[in-house]
Amino acid sequence: MNKHPRFIFHSQSPINGGVPLDLLAQSFITPTELFFVRTHAPAPMIDPERYRLRVDGLVKRKIELSLDEIKNNFPPRTLNATLQCAGNRRAELNAIAPVPNELPWGAEAIGNATWRGIALQDILAAASARDDASHVAFSGLDQIEKEGHTFSFGGSIPIIKAREPNVLLAYEMNGAPLAPIHGFPLRVIAPGYVGARSVKWLAHITVQKESSSNYFQTRAYQLFPANMRAENLDWTTGLQLSELNVNSVICEPTDGARLQTNFVLVRGYAISSRALARVEITLDNGANWISAEMLGTENSDSTWRLWRARVDLKPGRNEIAVRAWDSAANTQPANLRDVWNFKGYMNNAWHRINIFRNK
Ligand code: MTE
Repeated sequence: MNKHPRFIFHSQSPINGGVPLDLLAQSFITPTELFFVRTHAPAPMIDPERYRLRVDGLVKRKIELSLDEIKNNFPPRTLNATLQCAGNRRAELNAIAPVPNELPWGAEAIGNATWRGIALQDILAAASARDDASHVAFSGLDQIEKEGHTFSFGGSIPIIKAREPNVLLAYEMNGAPLAPIHGFPLRVIAPGYVGARSVKWLAHITVQKESSSNYFQTRAYQLFPANMRAENLDWTTGLQLSELNVNSVICEPTDGARLQTNFVLVRGYAISSRALARVEITLDNGANWISAEMLGTENSDSTWRLWRARVDLKPGRNEIAVRAWDSAANTQPANLRDVWNFKGYMNNAWHRINIFRNK
């Protein structure tokens, strides 16, 4: 696995990790060596010659395709898209109450890559998906062991989403074939949805009436009410995660930095399942806000947006917080308490850092 020397592993087997925030938001496209990795089992080794993608369920024509057929028989599409894990920023939630048995992600479980592949809508058309179908389910070739069972990672998206032209079956990431850890030879890219729906090592697509019955759709990646805990869990209260909420993060300076200067350039990222409208910084816990400069020109519901703001510092401790707004005027809650849930998903409270100006 070719990752940056500063890559931080939350676990080695299976591999999970990402890079420190100062490296993350340096460029709009995240180089593959800086792109986070989220796996639930070791990456399967797949022989591209023997690989087949099966498509069945509520279709008029079942199909089975080799990698060459996928590449040669459908028009290629290239797209910039951001993947963000639902567990991004989980570690901050431990300040409210412990989030047990989950990876302690900082804000590094996000990346924006250039993907090349074919549109899922073209595959659905080739298989002639039936009109009574509502969901498209995916399953991968990885083998997850849990509570005495072995099963593949899976999940689904509504068929309306699956028919959007920017939902891809990708075979390339940043101009190279997908790395094994990122899903070689083929993965889903469902922009604007939690990363869990972008199934890697894709083997099987099923068109169906209901959402996927896979563990990672019906158990994990569900948002439960704040009063739920593992001990009193009522599974029927969960929301199956799909669209991303609006979020923003300060990547530089890093929390705890000590600076000699009177001002600092604050930089970071913002993301939503809609286009972004604005990013704002506060130095006084929300009494006053400074608009950040939005960088780059690409502003779609598929990609993050980088931003920067010049901030004057007072001597001593400065708390800096950020919030973003999207095109539907959605914004972020102020406090971690407002978003805490026992699985630690979808934390989009204002991201806060403390930095110190030497007197
Ligand atoms: N697909 C399979 N087959 N197995 C997995 O463990 N993890 C999912 C998704 N697809 C996963 C998967 C999750 S939770 C995320 S956030 C993204 O892949 C991460 O993609 P990346 O590792 O390429 O960054």
